[in-house]
Amino acid sequence: MSSSICRLRKMAAVTAGAALLMALAGCHTDMWHQPKLKAQSENSFFADGKTDRTPVMNTVAVGNLRQDEAFYTGKQNNQPVSKLPMPVTLELLKRGQQQYNVFCSPCHGKSGDGQGMIAQRGLALRRQPASYHTDRLRAMPVGHFYDVITNGFGVMYSYASRIAPEDRWAIAAYIRVLQQSQYTRVNELTPEDLRRLQEEEQSTQGMEK
Ligand code: HEC
Repeated sequence: MSSSICRLRKMAAVTAGAALLMALAGCHTDMWHQPKLKAQSENSFFADGKTDRTPVMNTVAVGNLRQDEAFYTGKQNNQPVSKLPMPVTLELLKRGQQQYNVFCSPCHGKSGDGQGMIAQRGLALRRQPASYHTDRLRAMPVGHFYDVITNGFGVMYSYASRIAPEDRWAIAAYIRVLQQSQYTRVNELTPEDLRRLQEEEQSTQGMEK
């Protein structure tokens, strides 16, 4: 008699345990089962049986009318533009610096000499990342840099899916800053900068002695 009560108690404990486990596992399934349509799925609601709607002919989705050719392609009449299609502000250059350091410096280096960490130690690249400090790239119109970011160049892949057009221009402008930082002719300096350079030279000469 007492042993059968004991068995009943054991069974009750096991059942209660199982119920608790099921309750825990079954928490909030409502979040997983939301009524929604999945892309590319079948659908009896529309006559063509598809969930995806075909865009109406000759229409453009809001915000996708990319009429400004120079801004969106970096080219005009198939030639890279030589002027930035927006005012150059300190804010733009700072944004360019930040984006350049994130997306480009790992290969091209923070100063644009092509000696980023990946070039030095990373994957074996089929070709070395370019240095921006060559006569050819110094002479390139700024639209070329926008184009390289947008469409890639040689073995370098495109950044179009990761960097918005505004930021591509900011980076292109910042590349000009990098080029200038490594290659400025003395006769391009303002008198003020020239004076500071001469002062700097004198003070370092003094240190060497
Ligand atoms: C994963 C490495 C890598 C990253 C990141 C990278 N590049 Fe490059 N880039 C290369 C390589 C490699 C080349 C040389 C391609 C070739 O010659 O085939 C190159 C070439 C270039 C050139 C030279 C094009 C010419 O006319 O010779 C420019 C300009 C350039 N990259 C800009 C950028 C900018 C701007 C970014 C950031 C948005 C960037 N790259 C990010 C690897 C990279």
